[in-house]
Amino acid sequence: MCFLLGEPVIIYVFSGSGNTWTVAREIADVLLDGGVSTALRPLERSTPEDSVNANTLGLAFPVAMFTAYPFVWKFIEDLPDGRGKKVFMVDTLAGLSGGIVGPLKKTLVRKGYRPIGAREIRMPSNYSRKEPEGEKDARIRLSGLANAASFARDLLKGRSSWSSFPIFSDIIRKIGYCSSGAAWRSVRRKFPLAADSDKCSRCGLCEKLCPVGNISMAGTPDFGDACVFCQRCLSFCPENAINVAGSSLVPYRGVDPAVFLEFLGID
Ligand SMILES: Cc1cc2nc3c(=O)[nH]c(=O)nc-3n(C[C@H](O)[C@H](O)[C@H](O)COP(=O)(O)O)c2cc1C
Ligand code: SF4
Ligand code: SF4
Repeated sequence: MCFLLGEPVIIYVFSGSGNTWTVAREIADVLLDGGVSTALRPLERSTPEDSVNANTLGLAFPVAMFTAYPFVWKFIEDLPDGRGKKVFMVDTLAGLSGGIVGPLKKTLVRKGYRPIGAREIRMPSNYSRKEPEGEKDARIRLSGLANAASFARDLLKGRSSWSSFPIFSDIIRKIGYCSSGAAWRSVRRKFPLAADSDKCSRCGLCEKLCPVGNISMAGTPDFGDACVFCQRCLSFCPENAINVAGSSLVPYRGVDPAVFLEFLGID
């Protein structure tokens, strides 16, 4: 029992290639060790209304294009009235976020939540990788996990904080929210995905993994025009069959696929 965090704590997690899941798992494990009932839920497979069951709400997502993916913003915008409920956030990133913690705080306060802590955690980059994972990535991951554990201990002790950078607030929110906006259109132009029909086993996993329903199976996967390049399909295709057309990116996996699929409820 923790007097500072309402229980249960439910952390809604979106993770493209596994980093954010790993960080959120670490936070949950430290909270559980501290005696706090804590659960992780896949954000893209939950509805904002589900969060009424949480007495403290956690939000965990990767930074993308200096902001968050449009469906992450939508989930947050659609949360029910907070009625003073405590909320914390954690993002993972490769370097720079554009100060997303500020606009997120503003949005949550407007919705009646009580922000208690935000942490941005550096993890290995999953963006357009040309190199397989190396020692540097392992060091970054270790340090990221230590940062996550320290954040969780701060939450337990009531010592966490949530700063704001109001200058970019509305810009960062607007870029993120609109998946048909210029930023995401440019991502789609730059990274058109395709499946190699010689490698693809037609298993259909990529279709189940895509958080925005951008993949339909027509024998091999067919990619629509809603991709936000979250990396899921590319990272977890068991045959390494998906790549950017005409390119040879190295898929990055921040988590054991079996563990991740179990979390997502995918057989
Ligand atoms: C499309 C895309 C855009 C990204 N944009 C940023 C960014 O603006 N700043 C940054 O520091 N990292 C950026 N990254 C790196 C990811 O935020 C980082 O690797 C994160 O830990 C991935 O988390 P995940 O494995 O949970 O998806 C980007 C990655 C992708 C795929
Ligand atoms: S996950 Fe890979 S092997 Fe399975 S259908 Fe998709 S592209 Fe093909
Ligand atoms: S098509 Fe692949 S990279 Fe694009 S949004 Fe879906 S899972 Fe993510």
